[in-house]
Amino acid sequence: FLHKLVLGIETSCDDTAAAVVDETGNILGEAIHSQTEVHLKTGGIVPSVAQQLHKENIQRIVQAALSSSKVCPRELSAVATTVKPGLALSLGVGLSFSLHLVDQLKKPFIPIHHMEAHALTIRLLNKVDFPFLVLLISGGHCLLALVRGVSDFLLLGKSLDIAPGDMLDKVARRLSLIKHPECSTMSGGKAIEHLAKQGNKLHFDIKPPMQRAKNCDFSFSGLQHVVDRIITQKEKEEGIQKGEILASAAHIAAAVQHTTACHIAKRTHRAILFCKQKRLLTPSNAVLVVSGGVASNLYIRKALEIVTNATECTLLCPPPRLCTDNGIMIAWNGIERLRAGVGVLHNTEGIRYEPK
Ligand code: KG4
Ligand code: ZN
Repeated sequence: FLHKLVLGIETSCDDTAAAVVDETGNILGEAIHSQTEVHLKTGGIVPSVAQQLHKENIQRIVQAALSSSKVCPRELSAVATTVKPGLALSLGVGLSFSLHLVDQLKKPFIPIHHMEAHALTIRLLNKVDFPFLVLLISGGHCLLALVRGVSDFLLLGKSLDIAPGDMLDKVARRLSLIKHPECSTMSGGKAIEHLAKQGNKLHFDIKPPMQRAKNCDFSFSGLQHVVDRIITQKEKEEGIQKGEILASAAHIAAAVQHTTACHIAKRTHRAILFCKQKRLLTPSNAVLVVSGGVASNLYIRKALEIVTNATECTLLCPPPRLCTDNGIMIAWNGIERLRAGVGVLHNTEGIRYEPK
């Protein structure tokens, strides 16, 4: 192989993922094991359960990524692995596995920041030059940042409490959508999007949070509590027990999705205006990249499209499989770092891990 080849490993949350990517952005092999089904049953991620599942799957997933790529381990240029942020117990499995691997293979190790990997994924697909704006919205993340280089990020705003996906998951759980015949296998956010199509968003008037805040931060827990109260009231009105599905569930889903979209669009609008005013973005070709699990929501994307059209920005969104957690983004961040010559470790002695 003439090109640099990186094996990427991701275990920061509830996906065990690995991929092999080359310098030109070719995805040579990938494998992923999702724990979503298990965590849906317990109504949230139990870290020790996530850790156990990562341990059970990591060897097989890395092997599958490597064998589907037809790259033999000694041809790799480096191994890149998520080291933060995330659940400590989950991260530990990937880190410990990777350190053993680079030790065996005598390859460089590239520690990866999960958010930075999300942010740079778009460059695997499109020619996007620095600087650009990124909006990361998922179950665990909510931030707006200016990406000025491979490891040069300016944080413009973040959630002051929970992430939008987390809020949507909680609302979906409160609505017992897991028992809904059409949504039982969907994530909370996807179930809300699905149900919202059958509801009227104006049936409930829910105000977007932080309307007066002169910054680019977000908040979703107030919204969650407002919706919680609406659900409690509707349960009384409809005379149903907690855990049964409300007749008005679709209206509630439509309203919460609408308010979420308005809030996200508004904060993003502020960030774009700020960057243009301070000349942090090139006015002629400003780009907004939106990623994370919540970015696959078409209603929220539409709201963002209105904002980017009004501000003459280009809106780019990786395809769903690259928006959610995956090994490809980690491998690609490794490629970016190799090319830029930043953060490549040839000696991992200083990094601690539990011996096998
Ligand atoms: O990126 P991701 O797979 O994992 C992290 O949180 O890092 O995102 C998962 C989140 C979940 O909260 C899920 O409910 C949400 O993304 N999500 C959606 C949709 N699909 C997934 N939220 C809104 N609309 C969707 N279509
Ligand atoms: Zn993520």
